[in-house]
Amino acid sequence: MLLPRRTVLRPLGFSPSGLHFRLCLHNQAGFVFTQTKAYIFKRGFTIAPSSASSPHSKWALLGAGVALAGTSAFLFMSEEKFGGIQTIFVPSKEDYQNVYTEIARLLIEMDEYDDGSYGPVLLRLSWHTSGTYDKTTGTGGSNGATMRFAPESDHGANLGLVHAREFLEPVRKMFPWITYSDLWTLAGVAAVQELGGPTIPWRPGRQDADSTACPPDGRLPIASKGPPHLRAIFYRMGFNDREIVALSGAHALGRAHTDRTGYEGPWDFSPTVFTNEFFRLLVEEEWLKREWDGPLQYTDKTTKTLMMLPTDMALIEDAEFKPHVERYARDSDVFFQEFTDAFVKLLELGVPFKGQGRDRWVFERSE
Ligand code: HEM
Repeated sequence: MLLPRRTVLRPLGFSPSGLHFRLCLHNQAGFVFTQTKAYIFKRGFTIAPSSASSPHSKWALLGAGVALAGTSAFLFMSEEKFGGIQTIFVPSKEDYQNVYTEIARLLIEMDEYDDGSYGPVLLRLSWHTSGTYDKTTGTGGSNGATMRFAPESDHGANLGLVHAREFLEPVRKMFPWITYSDLWTLAGVAAVQELGGPTIPWRPGRQDADSTACPPDGRLPIASKGPPHLRAIFYRMGFNDREIVALSGAHALGRAHTDRTGYEGPWDFSPTVFTNEFFRLLVEEEWLKREWDGPLQYTDKTTKTLMMLPTDMALIEDAEFKPHVERYARDSDVFFQEFTDAFVKLLELGVPFKGQGRDRWVFERSE
């Protein structure tokens, strides 16, 4: 049975102009489309004339969006099914699990980067794509993945994140139906889980946008500043003091690079394992100003191999932040739980979830 398009689209609140918008966006990403008329059923199936095919493969992209089919990702048609009649592919939880599994596989395979894992830089990508959110204007946030474009890709805070974006390109090619904004946030989830952190529930539904949606520079925190700056940046997103401290615990992973931000070194001795070590060391170590030519950063008195940023030190200098640092230093489970809650919130800031996106999913870790 074929339904005329307008009959179905109107009740679902989807407009043909919305359809055109998405086609334009993906054209920028280099896809070639066939703007075939398609007939779309409420539950996400489409039957369309069989002339629609992509030069890339048997898949043809049909610009049907999330609201349309109750799912979050782009919908694809395949000529293979139903004897030449094309059908729409609606990604399921299993499909997103496959994306997760591929990221996890690559994390293990590509172990020559930095301290042996791309995980930390993936986590930083997911944070920087989300942390531009402004609750007052509703702009920025993970929806859009606008860091693909200048000027956002060139913002000083984002230097080095090209490594994370390039790491994920083969994954995007393998699963071309996923939006970059869903892919980048899912990569953050995979990084935390695969490096031994808590389980992070995640849901799809982000839509990519073009460069006109790039947030202005200056929305991410500046490491040389103190508590008022941290509060100004994180309150703007809608976080409180406890959440600021919990999220900062991500610095258990990775390191700073002089050629990216000017800072140097890891925060703890296991930068590829997600732990509460960042907090334990903050509380238990003595931190000295590092004597060097670079920007002000702190080094541990015992080994002089670790580092803290001024904003990290602000967490034990501020009377409201410090009790949370101490709680997390004492109890890893509490840190894992409160980090999870704050990180889930971070990845979802400003995203208008619909359909499948109403439910969060938990993805299985690699063996
Ligand atoms: C509180 C304010 C924050 C400041 C000022 C800050 C600043 C920085 C700086 C300067 C670096 C070094 C980057 C480099 O040179 O490569 C860094 C790395 C990192 N940050 Fe933050 N950050 C903050 C919060 C966060 C949050 C909320 C997360 C995640 C939830 C996060 C995750 C990371 C990770 C994983 C790295 C290591 C990246 C790598 O190894 O390449 N940071 N951060």
